[in-house]
Amino acid sequence: MNIAVLGTGRVGSTLGARLTSRGHRVLYGSRTPTGADRLDHRGAVASSDLVVTAVPGGDVLGVLDEIGDEALGDKILLDPSATITPRAATGHTGGGVAGRVQRRFPRTRVVKALNTMNFAIMVDPLASVPAATVFVSGDDVAAKGVVTGLLGDLGWPATGIIDLGGIDTAAATEQAGALYFAIVRALGDTRFNLAVSR
Ligand SMILES: NC(=O)c1ccc[n+]([C@@H]2O[C@H](COP(=O)([O-])OP(=O)(O)OC[C@H]3O[C@@H](n4cnc5c(N)ncnc54)[C@H](OP(=O)(O)O)[C@@H]3O)[C@@H](O)[C@H]2O)c1
Repeated sequence: MNIAVLGTGRVGSTLGARLTSRGHRVLYGSRTPTGADRLDHRGAVASSDLVVTAVPGGDVLGVLDEIGDEALGDKILLDPSATITPRAATGHTGGGVAGRVQRRFPRTRVVKALNTMNFAIMVDPLASVPAATVFVSGDDVAAKGVVTGLLGDLGWPATGIIDLGGIDTAAATEQAGALYFAIVRALGDTRFNLAVSR
């Protein structure tokens, strides 16, 4: 699959490297394009089937606005972003980032996932957290199926993937960020995951 990863920080480079090693063609979108596989945002999106928004949550809409509705079209957009305040809680707003993106770009098929864990766990779910859970939210069932396949490529077992429903359910996982950072402070460690056991 042709994948545009917007943002070349911890999440973008970690997901990009793993997806490349699984045979996907990854182009990075960056504010500082250098050519080869690191283009500007619009250039990376142009030849991709799926877009990953690995940029700060507060900047996702701005980056997508610059790319534009025409270029995004009906591509699948995987949003792992979180909105972090200076106090390292999350600054969730209204219906959440993914919900606002979906409303702003109604043709684009937005799926929220991977936002409830540290970037290292995203590609290594079972090493330290055997009962790993990843939540998926999105209105387009086919797009969620594609993202679920990618999660499998990242190492997620099907039993650990919980489809919460439509994109509005993403706000619930975005709001779990405050809990995530409270646990980081309590444990002094980021190698854990929120898991649903029943
Ligand atoms: N780190 C984690 O463990 C983790 C876990 C769950 C969710 N998330 C979320 O995933 C997203 C990426 O996190 P990260 O840890 O990879 O962050 P990061 O290491 O700070 O990297 C973010 C990247 O986004 C781009 N960027 C930064 N400021 C930007 C701006 N104002 N406008 C457009 N692009 C900008 C930069 O790439 P370029 O310089 O190439 O443009 C930067 O390297 C965030 O929303 C974060 O909350 C992170």
